[in-house]
This record gives sequence, structure tokens and C-alpha cells, in this order.
Amino acid sequence: MLSRINFLKEAIKNLKTLGTITPSSRFLSKKMLKGINFSEADVLVELGPGNGAITKYILEKLSPKAILICFEINDSFYNQLQDLQHPQLVILKKSAENIEEELKKLKLHKANHIISSVPLTIIPDEISAKILQESYKTLNINGTFIQYQYSLTYFKKLKNVFKDSISLGFEPLNIPPAFIYRCKKVE
Ligand SMILES: C[S@@+](CC[C@H](N)C(=O)[O-])C[C@H]1O[C@@H](n2cnc3c(N)ncnc32)[C@H](O)[C@@H]1O
Repeated sequence: MLSRINFLKEAIKNLKTLGTITPSSRFLSKKMLKGINFSEADVLVELGPGNGAITKYILEKLSPKAILICFEINDSFYNQLQDLQHPQLVILKKSAENIEEELKKLKLHKANHIISSVPLTIIPDEISAKILQESYKTLNINGTFIQYQYSLTYFKKLKNVFKDSISLGFEPLNIPPAFIYRCKKVE
């Protein structure tokens, strides 16, 4: 309950970067991760983890050799995420626009999967476009970019990058109900 209140407080202060007033439900979090073969994923990236609603489920499934790198720009969420204290978790207070550069600093070059909650439709176009380009560049072939959204308005922009390799899911039990885009890098 406390974490929901804190989330609401941050949302009121930063609605233009949060895009919602409540963290993702367990239904949405679990559906976002369905389809990831965790036993074969060494490098996972999460964009906009917030207070860790999805992060905790990723950490539960992470294989022992894998690493999860999170990009979060909000000071309060960044501080809350430190409490997760997981040896395979790296939390960066950096914008998701810098994935490639930050992975290089960690001596990593490619990611198997990128799980994003960044509100792409609300943040400035140049930032969301850069996040998509960087994500595409950073993914391995057959890697996926998984993003939830509350509407279908961003579909065309995702299609420009991932072409026809996008499948669409829906989680009615989240508040608000959410669409899940699963975008695969095929070449
Ligand atoms: C809708 S909230 C999602 C929080 C959490 N993942 C969830 O599903 O409950 C969006 C998150 O994206 C973060 N965010 C917004 N722009 C960002 C950016 N450029 N880079 C990294 N994180 C960003 C916000 O601070 C916020 O934590």
C-alpha cells in the first residue's frame, strides 16, 4: 500500500514521464514476461522500472548467469530500487536513450530482451524515437522489445522499426487495461 501511495505522489509530480498513476499489476507484469526463455537469456534490460513492479518478477525468473540492467530517471524510484539489493541487478540513473553507451561501459554489447514501460506516447517524440532506435540496435537477432501501452497509438511507430515482427497482447485485469507489444528483431 505504501509503495502505491509513493507511486501516486511521484505521478502527481511527474505525470509527463510516468504516464500513469498506479504501478503495473501482477497480471500485466507476468504477461509482459510470458514468451521470454529465461534459461537462454544472459542480458536483460528494463526501461522505466519505476518502483519495481515488473522488476521483481524478472529477478525471480533470471537464470543464475544472467544480468538485469535497469534504466530509471526518477530520483525517488531510483532510490527505492536500491532496496531490491540483488547481486544480478544493475540500476542506472540514466535515460533509456543511452542504452548502447551504458551497456558498453559494462562491457556488454547486446541484450537478449528489453522490457519497457517508458510512456513512449507522452514523452517528447525525439526521445521516444531515440529509445526505439537504441533498443533495436542493442538487441540480438531474435531478441525482443516488449512494451506495454494503454492505447494502440504507438503501433505505427513500432512497425516502422520492427516491421511485421510484432505481436499484440492485451491484459484486461490491469488498471487501466493495457496492450502488450512484443517486437522481435529478425535481421
Ligand atoms: C508507467 S511508469 C512504469 C513503472 C513500472 N515499470 C510499472 O510498470 O509499474 C514509467 C516509468 O518510466 C520512467 N521513465 C520515463 N522516461 C524515461 C526515460 N527516458 N528513461 C528511463 N526511464 C524513464 C518513469 O520515471 C517511470 O518510472
